[in-house]
Amino acid sequence: MSSIWAGDYWIVSNLIQDVSRPAVLEQAVARLHGGGLVAIPTETVYGLAADVQSQTGVARVFAAKGRPADHPLILHVAADSVLAQWAQDYPDYVPKLVAAFWPGPLTLVLPRTNAVPDTVTGGQDTVAVRSPAHPVAQELLDRLSSGLVAPSANRFGGVSPTSAAAVLSELGAYLDPQRDLILDGGNCHLGLESTILDCTGACPQVLRPGAIGLGDIAVILPDLLTGQAGQPGSLGEGPVPRVSGALDSHYSPRATVRLAAATQLEGWESTQSRQIGLIADHATRTPAGWRRLLAPASLTEFARGLYGALRAADELALAEVVAVLPAADPAEPLSLAIVDRLTRAAAG
Ligand code: TXA
Ligand code: MG
Repeated sequence: MSSIWAGDYWIVSNLIQDVSRPAVLEQAVARLHGGGLVAIPTETVYGLAADVQSQTGVARVFAAKGRPADHPLILHVAADSVLAQWAQDYPDYVPKLVAAFWPGPLTLVLPRTNAVPDTVTGGQDTVAVRSPAHPVAQELLDRLSSGLVAPSANRFGGVSPTSAAAVLSELGAYLDPQRDLILDGGNCHLGLESTILDCTGACPQVLRPGAIGLGDIAVILPDLLTGQAGQPGSLGEGPVPRVSGALDSHYSPRATVRLAAATQLEGWESTQSRQIGLIADHATRTPAGWRRLLAPASLTEFARGLYGALRAADELALAEVVAVLPAADPAEPLSLAIVDRLTRAAAG
């Protein structure tokens, strides 16, 4: 049994384990091998992990999330693992991306080998792979013989958790304290999910914007990303792959999210019985009677705090959240990722 400070109250749960206890990672490995689910901290958001080799574990991930079976999972691997085990016939630029960005917030979609179970890929012939940079995730991956599937540890369509307490509030009712665990590795450093890059073609295409942008990738692959069909800053064209995060509505709290310009705020009426929450940079004035949820002084703070702010809106039972988007600037990948997530939250 352990307790965790949730901001203004303590949560006591035997699901949450403090990773500084030496036996905890051993226990996590044993549970994963036995088909258990282990929520893990990563540098982006918390993931709900299962051993990729455990059919039971993979099936339980879909069940705990309420996720449709045709939405594929990201395979998480140790930084020094052999990619050829999971992917084959990929373009020559892929090892360069791996060398430059792993471990880190970059997921690569690659042609898969038969070692990847069909249940993980939703029947597609590609697999999404990443190596998370959080030391707890890496240590766990080092102790396992294979890899971990790990979608964000939220119910399908909901807001990704960036703390162990948030995982518990999302999934506590769907996890089994006898079989499953939540590893508490603190708050996630980045706060938004990894960049997903489709690497099945001659030119990589961004499927989901994240902390690593096309500008960062162009530094590593200067020839590929300039002057060719996949222009830097433009998203992938062609058929839309099955990416659950690419559904128009996603990342949604129960509160209605509306997007607004800072100049529009005064027109909104916030009353005691119907209080509005505000997410906007620190320079935006909070109108009288509104509840400020986030006032970031930088894009880094915006990204890190965004999901916690959306979650707080629900905890406060706010009916409405108004968000002022940062300017979308291709030179600032986090701005594109924040705009993407908030736009989808508003569509939900
Ligand atoms: O930062 C992250 O990527 C987090 C942490 C936990 O690692 N994980 C995460 O997983 O965001 P998830 O399942 O919530 O989102 C993964 C996205 C989904 O939208 C899924 O459809 C897409 O990746 N995906 C998985 N496999 C794919 C594939 N083969 N082709 C295209 N998209 C794929
Ligand atoms: Mg997700």
